[in-house]
Amino acid sequence: MASSESSGRLIVITGGGDGIGRATALLCARRGDRIAILDKNGDSAKQTADAALVEGAGGALGLACDVTDEEQVAQSFALIHERFGAPYGIFANAGIDVGGLIHEMPLERWKHILDTNLTGIFLACKHGLRQMLEAQVSGSIVCTSSPAGFVALAAGSCGAYSASKGAISSLVRCMAIDYAKFGIRVNAVAPGPTETRLGWNNVPAEEVETMRAQLCREIPLGRLAQPEDQARIVVWLLSDETAYMTGSHVICDGGILAKSSISV
Ligand SMILES: NC(=O)c1ccc[n+]([C@@H]2O[C@H](COP(=O)([O-])OP(=O)(O)OC[C@H]3O[C@@H](n4cnc5c(N)ncnc54)[C@H](O)[C@@H]3O)[C@@H](O)[C@H]2O)c1
Repeated sequence: MASSESSGRLIVITGGGDGIGRATALLCARRGDRIAILDKNGDSAKQTADAALVEGAGGALGLACDVTDEEQVAQSFALIHERFGAPYGIFANAGIDVGGLIHEMPLERWKHILDTNLTGIFLACKHGLRQMLEAQVSGSIVCTSSPAGFVALAAGSCGAYSASKGAISSLVRCMAIDYAKFGIRVNAVAPGPTETRLGWNNVPAEEVETMRAQLCREIPLGRLAQPEDQARIVVWLLSDETAYMTGSHVICDGGILAKSSISV
């Protein structure tokens, strides 16, 4: 566990041990925020917390927490509260991308994807919101959706992942309405293909280079995103610069959702 205290805003980040969550934690840290990282991988959560302190975080805590388990989420938020008080911001971001055709998909895999991506966001928001409401914090929540929540990805076999992301987008709009009267904003980021472990999860290792080159040809901006491209959007949504935004999605996808996939 890494920790120290200061007066910066407290931001809780799920899935902050790696990828987009980690990049967001480090960017928040450079702004002097206090950071709490929840990740299934406790070592990576602690490593991000340590790195956040080096980057200038006003305090940092890294906790092992499986977001599918309500007891673990509740205990983690209790520990965070004990150390830092109520959060100002929550980045509900932990996710997995496991492919598969629906007629072949074992129920357990379907449940694992939905539990991680959707129920994990529900639980983080539930326990974070309780503390924000109790402390009367008018804060900001950002959830990670995906272009897959809006369209079927051309690669196919992403029914469970897409269903989870579409549901997250619906949840974001509903929470935005429910908590607007408390001054709590809820928005989503929808990252396009981003260079993270998850981004290549469904591509065999020997095909990654070929696939990366193909994606660069297909993505209008000609490259994949770096995690920092997404982190800048999240930090912006967490900040007062977006004080009049709630229930919104920021699509950060290099142009793929704007592009028709057929050649006419
Ligand atoms: N990388 C992309 O191309 C891409 C595109 C669209 C959306 N997203 C979304 O961005 C989010 C972050 O993904 P990433 O690309 O940074 O992936 P990543 O694999 O680099 O990071 C995900 C983190 O979530 C953690 N995690 C997974 N299951 C968890 C659980 N049950 N409890 C707690 N932590 C858990 C992992 O340990 C990991 O540290 C996900 O919601 C993903 O769906 C990613």
